[in-house]
Amino acid sequence: MPAYSDDYNTVLMEAQRDQHAQARPEIAGLPENIDDYDTVLLGYPNWWASIPMPIASFLEAFDFAGKRIVPFCSHGGGRFGQSLTAIAKLAPESAMGQGLSIHYSGGATLSEDVAAWLEANQLSGEARG
Ligand SMILES: Cc1cc2nc3c(=O)[nH]c(=O)nc-3n(C[C@H](O)[C@H](O)[C@H](O)COP(=O)(O)O)c2cc1C
Repeated sequence: MPAYSDDYNTVLMEAQRDQHAQARPEIAGLPENIDDYDTVLLGYPNWWASIPMPIASFLEAFDFAGKRIVPFCSHGGGRFGQSLTAIAKLAPESAMGQGLSIHYSGGATLSEDVAAWLEANQLSGEARG
């Protein structure tokens, strides 16, 4: 499957087509496994009120049983839409951390919002390295 278009109107149509078809676009450069990770920060843009279909490909590529998925998404007003439900369905044996939704690029409070979100997920220590 070719990459998504750089043209906004074209990618709108491509994304809708893939969502209707429940397509599973191939992801370039997937890791061999995710065995070393207990927590996965899963970031994506809200596309048509849900996850972009490559996120479904990613969630089906690995076994998330016993892992924690911490979602964050950018959006144009629809926040998470149905995306959290979609993630939970695709990784039913995972736990879901507290999510963060970001309006477009997040604005002036972005760093504070991210810091509070990491803290809420007990990730601040790890994030600092
Ligand atoms: C194909 C497509 C579908 C989108 N659908 C939605 C939507 O349903 N709800 C919403 O709030 N924003 C929607 N948006 C806006 C994106 O969420 C927003 O552009 C993105 O989060 C900002 O990141 P970007 O700069 O990578 O596009 C859509 C954008 C695209 C390209």
